[in-house]
Amino acid sequence: MKKLYIETVGCQMNVLDSELVVASLRKRGYELTDSTCDADTILFNTCSVRQHAEDKIYSALGRLKNAKQSDPHKIIGVLGCMAQKDQRLIFQRAPYVDLVVGPGQLHQVPQLIEQIAAGRGPQLEVSLGRADGSRAAIERSHESFDPLRDPSMRPTPYQAYVRIMIGCDKFCTYCIVPSVRGPEQSRPPQEILAESRQLAGEGCKEIILLGQTVNSYRHGQSRLSDLLYQLHDIEGLERIKFVTNYPKDMTDDLLGAVRDLPKCTKYLHVPAQSGSNRMLERMKRGYTVEDYREMMARIRHWLPNAAVTSDFIVGFCGETDKDFELTCELVREQRFKNSFIFKYSERPGTKGAERYPDDVPEPVKKNRNNDLLEIQNAISEEDNQPFLGRDVEVLVEGPSKTGAKQDAADPQVQLTGRTLCDRIVVFEGNRRQIGQVLPITVYDANAHTLFGHVVTQHAGPELFTLGA
Ligand code: 5AD
Ligand code: SF4
Repeated sequence: MKKLYIETVGCQMNVLDSELVVASLRKRGYELTDSTCDADTILFNTCSVRQHAEDKIYSALGRLKNAKQSDPHKIIGVLGCMAQKDQRLIFQRAPYVDLVVGPGQLHQVPQLIEQIAAGRGPQLEVSLGRADGSRAAIERSHESFDPLRDPSMRPTPYQAYVRIMIGCDKFCTYCIVPSVRGPEQSRPPQEILAESRQLAGEGCKEIILLGQTVNSYRHGQSRLSDLLYQLHDIEGLERIKFVTNYPKDMTDDLLGAVRDLPKCTKYLHVPAQSGSNRMLERMKRGYTVEDYREMMARIRHWLPNAAVTSDFIVGFCGETDKDFELTCELVREQRFKNSFIFKYSERPGTKGAERYPDDVPEPVKKNRNNDLLEIQNAISEEDNQPFLGRDVEVLVEGPSKTGAKQDAADPQVQLTGRTLCDRIVVFEGNRRQIGQVLPITVYDANAHTLFGHVVTQHAGPELFTLGA
């Protein structure tokens, strides 16, 4: 058995890619190890969205220099967005790297590793850049990597990511994704349905549909709403979720589907990025803050109890105190369940880097990040309070962080799961309950977590000893 170490950073798309790469290597006799020391092959699945994520990978590579010197047969590979973005530069910065593979070429990883092992030297496989050919040729060079799923590879057998589209055509000026992940391409509904049926057949309870702009999904006449109706019929599936949404494509047919389909989680992640029209214009987001408000009003109309989350970039080029204040206003007014806040990180090759100087000083970015987070956290905590004393339906995901450290032989353990509106709930339970949908009474709440106990009369007499 050969040993594989893999480290993954970045978005859910990367988590899925790593799962699939691992599955394809396991078929060829690899097993996983959690130490780089005894690994025959070390892979990093990387992210280029912010500089920080890249710096971390280059320093991790730096730490492997000696290991490679003492064991030249160790194969070191860089996969994903940074591989596509930096290409040969990776070999220059870390000459002992053997393998560089972009996100559109992951199906080649096993053969490439074989070639390296056979002594054919370093291997590089990337897709075409956005200006390197016809649209059709560029699309073909970014292949969606969707081999057969291996249930043993998922962190939990009850949940799975399912890719419904790859790439992005929105070209927001700050964002590297359209150039590293290529043109927007939707997978045929039949493939998505077949994969989801297989997952459900293996006991999977929740699928999370993935796309950079998931609600821009379009294959022939099929929209995301149509797909949701079809997926909803799959027996065994209990929940369907989708991320990440693009505000302009949040159409009424989609909101109607989420409202009418009980398996759809009442949760929408729709990044606003900024509350200032001047910034939205510079970001080339394609909407105004008035458009975003109108969209939020429609969401509240169709789905009054849905949880909405957002992303914000603070300190984008030219952002003034006034612009930032407009973002704070939007957050206060819309009361997102949660917001992911990022300091702008200039990405070479984007229109933003080309057009505008990265002129907001780091300490200002940092302060704005903290200030916005404080506003959001206060809202998150307040909006969790009405849950106190209420019963919620929780899909149990597995041991909580605390539970993971508890004795694995003890059936009783602290568990974590999510409500239908994506709120995290932590409670004392039994390992047997993982994968079930349970009623939980909430007794405490902070900004990010609800704490509860199992409603025992629903759980059956054999569970009476639990928790409480
Ligand atoms: N700098 C900072 N944040 C960024 N994001 C995307 N590109 C950048 C960048 N250059 C953020 C956006 C996006 C999230 C995934 O990452 O908010 O929604
Ligand atoms: Fe990047 Fe904008 Fe595409 Fe999202 S929609 S991946 S932020 S370019």
